[in-house]
Amino acid sequence: MMVTSLMELTIDLAALRHNFLQLRQRLSPGVKLLAVVKADAYGHGLVPVARTLAGTGAEYLGVASLEEGLALRQEGIDLPIVLLLGIVPQESRAAVAADLEVILYRHDVAQALEEAGRALGKKARAHLKVDTGMGRLGVNPSEVLPFLDSLQNFANIEVLGLISHLAMADMVDKTYTHQQFQEFLTLLTAARDRGWELPLSHIANSAALIELPEGHFGMARPGIALYGSPPAPGRSWGVDLKPVMSLTTQVLQLKRLPPGRRISYGGTYTTTDWCDLAVLPVGYCNGYPRLLSNRGEVLVKGQRAPIRGRVCMNLIMVEVSHIEGMREGQPVTLLGEDGGDRLTGDDLAAWAETISYEIYCSLGTANPRSFVGV
Ligand SMILES: Cc1ncc(COP(=O)(O)O)c(C=O)c1O
Repeated sequence: MMVTSLMELTIDLAALRHNFLQLRQRLSPGVKLLAVVKADAYGHGLVPVARTLAGTGAEYLGVASLEEGLALRQEGIDLPIVLLLGIVPQESRAAVAADLEVILYRHDVAQALEEAGRALGKKARAHLKVDTGMGRLGVNPSEVLPFLDSLQNFANIEVLGLISHLAMADMVDKTYTHQQFQEFLTLLTAARDRGWELPLSHIANSAALIELPEGHFGMARPGIALYGSPPAPGRSWGVDLKPVMSLTTQVLQLKRLPPGRRISYGGTYTTTDWCDLAVLPVGYCNGYPRLLSNRGEVLVKGQRAPIRGRVCMNLIMVEVSHIEGMREGQPVTLLGEDGGDRLTGDDLAAWAETISYEIYCSLGTANPRSFVGV
C-alpha cells in the first residue's frame, strides 16, 4: 500500500547553514551567536534545525520553554541552551538538572533556582531580564540593581548577564532602539561597578545584528534571519538570505466553469468568463491562512495562479485559464521558487495581513516536514 502526502513542506538545511554563516560574518570577534530555535524553530523543526546550527558553529541556542530545552537535551544536543520565557518555580529542578539556563525576572524563581542548585550540587545559570522598552517580560530598569542585590547571598546561582528585547529594531528610524541600548548600557555599567561581571549580556535580534553593531554586546540572538526572511519586508537589508521553508502540493481536480458560476463558501467569487479551475488539497487546517481568500497566489509552471473564492478547511481553488498544458497531478508551489518566480513568507504574510514569522509557525507545525541539504 502506497501512502503519499499531497502536501510537501520542505526544510532546506543547506540554506539554514548559509544564513547562519552570513549572520556570523557580521559579528565582531568574541561576540557569541545564540540561534533562536524557539517555537519548533519558527516551525522549521526544533531538533534538525538545532543540530544543524550546532554543527555549523552556533555557540548558544534559545528555546521558549523547559519542554523544548529538555527535548534538545534528550537528543544529545549539549550546547548551552537559554529558556527565553523563563520558568515557573516548579520547573527549577528539571532546568538545573539538565543544565538549562534560565531567563530570570521573578524572585520566587530565583529562590527556587537557589534551592535546586543546592540540592543538585551545581550552579543554576541565569540571565536577568530587564524590560528596556518592549513592555513584555523582564523587571523594570529601576529594579535591576535591587534584584542583583537580592541575589548576593545566593551561592548556587550564577548570573551570566543581563538580557533585554528590542521592540522596534526592524524599523528605519532607530531612535527608540538607541534609547533601549542606552538604558541597557547604563544598567550594565552600574551593575559592573558593583562587581557583577555579566559577561554574556545580550539584546540584539536579527535586525540589530544586521544593522546595529553597537548593540551586539556579548551575544546576538537572531531568529527570523536564520530562516531566510528579512526582519521587515520592503527594503534592502544588505545580507544574502536564502528561504529555508517551501511548500508544494499538486492539482487534485481540474475543471472548467462557465461564466456566472460562483466559487467556494459564501459565493464570494463569480466567474466572468469560462474559467479553468484547479482544486488544490490545502486549506486553513494546513496553516494556510483563510485571509488569502480571493487574494493569494500560487505558482504553477512558473506562472502565478490567483486564488478564487474562500480558502476552505482542506481545499483552495486557483484559476489556471492562462496556463497551457495543465493536468491533474500538476505540481503547485504555495511557498518557494518555481521557474524563476518565488513566493516568499513575506508575500504570504502581506496577503494575510501578518508577518512571515506567523506564516512559518503556522505552516511548519501543521504539515509533515521533510529535510533536504542535510
Ligand atoms: C527574546 C527573543 N530574542 C530574540 C528573538 C529573535 O528575534 P528575530 O526573530 O526578530 O531575530 C526573539 C523572537 O521573537 C525573542 O523573543
